[in-house]
Amino acid sequence: MLPIETSPEGVRAWCAAQRSEGRTLGFVPTMGALHEGHLQLIDALKARGAERMVVSIFVNPTQFGPTEDFAKYPRVLAADCAKLVARGVDLVFAPDQSTMVRNEERTAVRVNELTEHLCGPLRPGHFEGVATVVTKLLSIVGPCDAAFGRKDYQQFKVIERLVTDLFLPVRVHGIPTVREPDGLALSSRNAYLSLEERLRAAVVPNALRAAVEAHTHGERDASVVRSVLQNALREVDRIEYAEVCDADTLRPLPDKTADRVLFVLAVRVGNTRLIDNFVTTEDVLFRSA
Ligand code: PAF
Repeated sequence: MLPIETSPEGVRAWCAAQRSEGRTLGFVPTMGALHEGHLQLIDALKARGAERMVVSIFVNPTQFGPTEDFAKYPRVLAADCAKLVARGVDLVFAPDQSTMVRNEERTAVRVNELTEHLCGPLRPGHFEGVATVVTKLLSIVGPCDAAFGRKDYQQFKVIERLVTDLFLPVRVHGIPTVREPDGLALSSRNAYLSLEERLRAAVVPNALRAAVEAHTHGERDASVVRSVLQNALREVDRIEYAEVCDADTLRPLPDKTADRVLFVLAVRVGNTRLIDNFVTTEDVLFRSA
């Protein structure tokens, strides 16, 4: 039976007991509705030597805007736990909302600069919500290693930054995006797509690939590769952003691209918001089936 803890004190005690027996802890924070992308975060930490695995499942209200999908976000705890057992997870932390977000709370974690671009201005308060809840989760679990998906590249960079700036004693790992055979990045939100939208969503990885290929073939004018990316996204319903950025600062590149470039986008297909990205020196170019 996979133990499911709902209290921070219970998780703290379990994790402390593991540490006192000399075992290393790996931690994967999630909002549930788990797919292969989440499960590969677990595999990645085990491959790096984590001896006990903790996964949290918490749909964090503070990272959703008032018009976003907090209410309809899929909550499927039993199905998630079955997947976690099969992947050899040792403890699930599934706290209540009132435990994690208390009315009397006055503390928040804000990461500056990295949050000023891309999703930051479009989702006010989002990264503060993420940074605060991740700080709480890391403080409760106290893992040696924690893994985050690189599909949420900006989130990954924000978490790396907060761990460095707050001297948190954890190694943060960004794990490559897992994709469907047609290249679409796995996401819990893909479940919102109708069949027609799902077929159309293949344009997202195809557009990224077109821009990356232009860059690989020597195009170094940022406005040209940005246009390649944006023009290839014509079939989506809305482009929130489709940018060519510095992969460390996340600032859009004004003129010349470098060798290490982040191609990054957020679009709507129907009402569903999809994000994706590619970092030239780190990611492997995917092929459509
Ligand atoms: O990426 C997610 O699922 C969430 O943003 C996270 C990191 C679990 C924080 O709520």
